[in-house]
Amino acid sequence: MEKLIIEGGRPLYGEVKISGAKNAALPLMAATLLSPGRHILRNMPDLRDTRTFIRLLANLGVKSERTGNVLVLDTTDILHTEAPYELVKTMRASVLVLGPLLARFGKAKVSLPGGCAIGARPINFHIMGLERLGVTCKLEGGYVDAAIEGPMRGDVIYFDIPSVTGTENLLMASVLAEGTTVLKNAAKEPEIGNLVDMLNGMGANIEGRDTDRLTVHGVSSLSPADCAIIPDRIETGTYLIALAATGGAGTVTNCNPAHLPSLLEKLRDVGLRISETESTISLDWPKREDKQQRLGNVDIKTMPYPGYPTDLQAQFMALMSLSSDTCVINETIFENRFMHVAELHRMGARIKVDGHFAVVTGRGMSGLSGAQVMATDLRASSSLVIAGLAASGRTEISRIYHLERGYENLVDKLTGLGARVWKEQE
Ligand code: EPU
Repeated sequence: MEKLIIEGGRPLYGEVKISGAKNAALPLMAATLLSPGRHILRNMPDLRDTRTFIRLLANLGVKSERTGNVLVLDTTDILHTEAPYELVKTMRASVLVLGPLLARFGKAKVSLPGGCAIGARPINFHIMGLERLGVTCKLEGGYVDAAIEGPMRGDVIYFDIPSVTGTENLLMASVLAEGTTVLKNAAKEPEIGNLVDMLNGMGANIEGRDTDRLTVHGVSSLSPADCAIIPDRIETGTYLIALAATGGAGTVTNCNPAHLPSLLEKLRDVGLRISETESTISLDWPKREDKQQRLGNVDIKTMPYPGYPTDLQAQFMALMSLSSDTCVINETIFENRFMHVAELHRMGARIKVDGHFAVVTGRGMSGLSGAQVMATDLRASSSLVIAGLAASGRTEISRIYHLERGYENLVDKLTGLGARVWKEQE
């Protein structure tokens, strides 16, 4: 296993280019199962999770070919329709093959993902929605064994809570259904807009993109896709927060500022200067010459899009540990997403957790010091990287395979911004 070493306390400066979004790439790869043929996915990030998904598809019979950031998936010959536990347990998003396999073949057997470090994360909405479309789902031996005779039949499906992969799975399930399906209280994350664009480009008929009501008029067949993955908004936010936390300044390129409305306002609220073009975001301090930089404090509450993203909660907590005041962070999406707190304590952060709330007492820009810490999940790990970059001295982060799930070329990108960071064997 590898660990990440950071010699912190150096402001980051410069430009960093954002990769394609992990959480868009995974459903788009799943959607290629809907139609036989050669699909082209552009701006595809090379991550541990995208590689796992390619393995999952290969196991079903899909052939893949990657040239740079273009991935070609040939879904002509599907050998079987089962996603085994060995693959699903390493990546929950594997459950995204359920909808498209059912739509094309009328059957799919997918392992239940089980619990996760950040919460229980059930898939009851996915199953309930499929049943509304006429699918019979049996839960046996840790698997969802789902089947339907003939095509699915459109219906109205209401989500108690907007679910991102739930919305994606049911969109993919319903595009080939008979009649019209309406998804109410659907999730509105930009990754879902990316999927809607891909499906409509393949010949689907989906209305309501970017709203919480998606209307799917079923079509009888689809053609192969040629589609680009949107920029990763969570990677974008992570680098912006890293620039701020180190007292640095710079520009994030190849991103979409429109996908980060809440974070950009929060960064302005703590006193940073944020300017945007269509595909770049620049961050600076109001008085660069002032060596005594002070970060203001601001509360955050994680919410479904366009609210503040849970996937940027841990990173913002690292930033608020460096502020000059107290802030309250309310995590409303996942029940166990404060695991980074104990690790941040090891670096000198003052944070008290009570249920879904964390109270962070900022220690000022030079308030953290390097330590040995452990990565526990993807976003928790990136908060430790941010804290390590800002802290004085050496930080060692073990179990960095978590980071590799979602951050392409992290070490190179940080080095390009002037960070002293490298990997070592544990
Ligand atoms: N939920 C249910 N039942 C369901 C589905 C969801 O109760 O059937 C609950 C969840 O437990 C949670 C809430 O609904 O409390 C929202 O969960 P959602 O289904 O939206 O999460 P997800 O689709 O499993 C995706 C991202 C996560 C991100 C969340 C929230 C992908 C592959 N994953 O997960 O990304 O945190 O949406 O935005 O898109 C990450 O990238 O680090 C990551 C965890």
